[in-house]
Amino acid sequence: MKISGVDVRELKKEYGTPLYIYDAAMLKNNMRLYINNFKSNQFETEVLFASKAFNVKEMVRIVDQEGLSLDCVSVGEFYTALNVGYDPKKVYFHGNNKSPDELRFIIMNNVGTIVVDNLMELVALDMITKELKKNVNIIIRLNVGVSAHTHKFIVTAHVDSKFGVAYKSDDYNTMLEVINKSEYINFLGFHSHIGSQIFDLKAFDAALEKLITYCKDFDKPLVLNIGGGFGVHYTDEDQPIPFDVVSKNLIETCENALAKSNVKIKKLCIEPGRSIVGEAGYTLYTIGFTKKTPNKEYYFIDGGMTDNIRPALYQAKYDCDIIDKENDKKDHTVTIAGKCCESGDLIIEDYKLPEANPGDLLITYTTGAYGYSMSSNYNKALTPAVVFVEDGKSKLVVRRMTLDELIEREE
Ligand code: LLP
Repeated sequence: MKISGVDVRELKKEYGTPLYIYDAAMLKNNMRLYINNFKSNQFETEVLFASKAFNVKEMVRIVDQEGLSLDCVSVGEFYTALNVGYDPKKVYFHGNNKSPDELRFIIMNNVGTIVVDNLMELVALDMITKELKKNVNIIIRLNVGVSAHTHKFIVTAHVDSKFGVAYKSDDYNTMLEVINKSEYINFLGFHSHIGSQIFDLKAFDAALEKLITYCKDFDKPLVLNIGGGFGVHYTDEDQPIPFDVVSKNLIETCENALAKSNVKIKKLCIEPGRSIVGEAGYTLYTIGFTKKTPNKEYYFIDGGMTDNIRPALYQAKYDCDIIDKENDKKDHTVTIAGKCCESGDLIIEDYKLPEANPGDLLITYTTGAYGYSMSSNYNKALTPAVVFVEDGKSKLVVRRMTLDELIEREE
């Protein structure tokens, strides 16, 4: 099997397994689908990459080259961006519990916009901007109460969500008072993120229409950020909407809602993460032992929940193949299990595959989002390497962790 012209067997030889492989051409293409189609002649538009899905230096460089802005949710993500010379003015900084030190750090490093989650944060921010005598742009994260049909663990905008404030709630009203009195806080608009892996565009339309009605309370045209969450294909149960269609649909919804309510906005932003990196990512493993129990057959791989926690955490489903046996008869119903001392460390359950031998390579698809970024060193597993492939060439972007690196911070 080749990815962007590179044989995965060669990648195994050069970099070992487990290995995260990204098709850089597909990454760029996904970004361009958003950038080229998320455009309006009535308001400005901005596409942000939600870097929590996959934040490494090379990824930020590509985001920069392709002209996307960046959603960072931690100082770690922000620092990675600063480190590769990414313009901090293009960063939207999220988080429901930003510490005073974190706020100081991002302000002193000229963060573009802070997405304020709650009243206490705004009060803290007001004090810090006075202390630093620095202006900051903010947008307020609103909980618009739209709940999209997705796995309950990853819905973030239901009424009791830990994220955002509700429109016209006491906290919301007080926040506007704080903003009015503040010397250094420049209120730009609103943010909403209704969930993840969403296929029903109507959910975004409903959230966007709500945000637009809230704009009526303000004299100046606001910035609206409708978040991310556009679904991708993991298995054939998922039927994603092409990203150009998603983009055009959101623009159209926005333009129609603006016309209907006679409101003007300054800018509309989206911040997709998964849909930019998800399908561009693969994980390559080596199969070790296999085992039959009375009711199951296991293929053991050299990675597992440490490089992909999503099956254990969300019961997420994936497709996979054994390299060079893609077209063999799939006459074994197997469970792909990782190496961890944890019975839930199963990557794929009851899946049809051909007979495997130790040393065969197994590839899982659509692991580009929240795989590497949620990886762990449980059982002291070494974080795998990450390689980007494009036009028949590979480039190592994260070296595999070494045993010494694993313990280097320990006294
Ligand atoms: N914007 C905000 C404010 C978000 O909270 C998120 C994701 C995104 C954008 C990007 O959403 P995306 O386009 O990637 O769906 N770890 C979970 C996903 C958690 C999503 C958290 N927020 C998973 O592996 O499915």
